[in-house]
Amino acid sequence: MPKIHVFDHPLIQHKMTYIRDTNTGTKEFRELVDEVATLMAYEITRDLPLKEVSVETPVCTAKTNILAGKKLGIVPILRAGIGMVDGILKLIPAAKVGHVGLFRDPKTLQPVEYFVKLPSDVSERDFILVDPMLATGGTAIAAADSLKSRGAKNIKFMCLIAAPEGVKAMTEAHPDVDIYIAGLDEKLDEKGYIVPGLGDAGDRLFGTK
Ligand code: URA
Repeated sequence: MPKIHVFDHPLIQHKMTYIRDTNTGTKEFRELVDEVATLMAYEITRDLPLKEVSVETPVCTAKTNILAGKKLGIVPILRAGIGMVDGILKLIPAAKVGHVGLFRDPKTLQPVEYFVKLPSDVSERDFILVDPMLATGGTAIAAADSLKSRGAKNIKFMCLIAAPEGVKAMTEAHPDVDIYIAGLDEKLDEKGYIVPGLGDAGDRLFGTK
């Protein structure tokens, strides 16, 4: 079964309060999302493999560790996922960035892919799939399907806020994908918004409300 990680770090919880606040303007909202994404990236990379190296300190030779060089990819789900990319890249600047764009067909209500661009060596990379909101789970499930159909083998899903409905749907559809969440909320409302949530993440990031 996938692991569900809900980050309770005080800095994350503090920043999430201002992200949720409807009075937080676009500039500050974007900065806070960026900061939380960096803090989450710190936790999500906890299991990266290391290799031992020697360095000369001013005092002696020390045996110490550096990253073993595992290839990573970050894939934001368009458009709101873009708001989390730079924050993650601050900690893992060598990661490649792919993009997945999906819209919901108004007739079938099923997610439809309209854009996919991934690094060419998909099967050699571990991916962090990012979207600020895990609501019904439909988009995240389709995005993970899309990555897997192109050869991705290891995917982690990272979001700011999740509804229990989305967590259930995603874990059932992709039991191999661990989920990393800054805030696990109560429910979805009748329009599909997460309650209490933060409103429309894309509109708040890009000022399009
Ligand atoms: N997408 C959003 O941006 N907000 C929600 O509450 C649910 C889906």
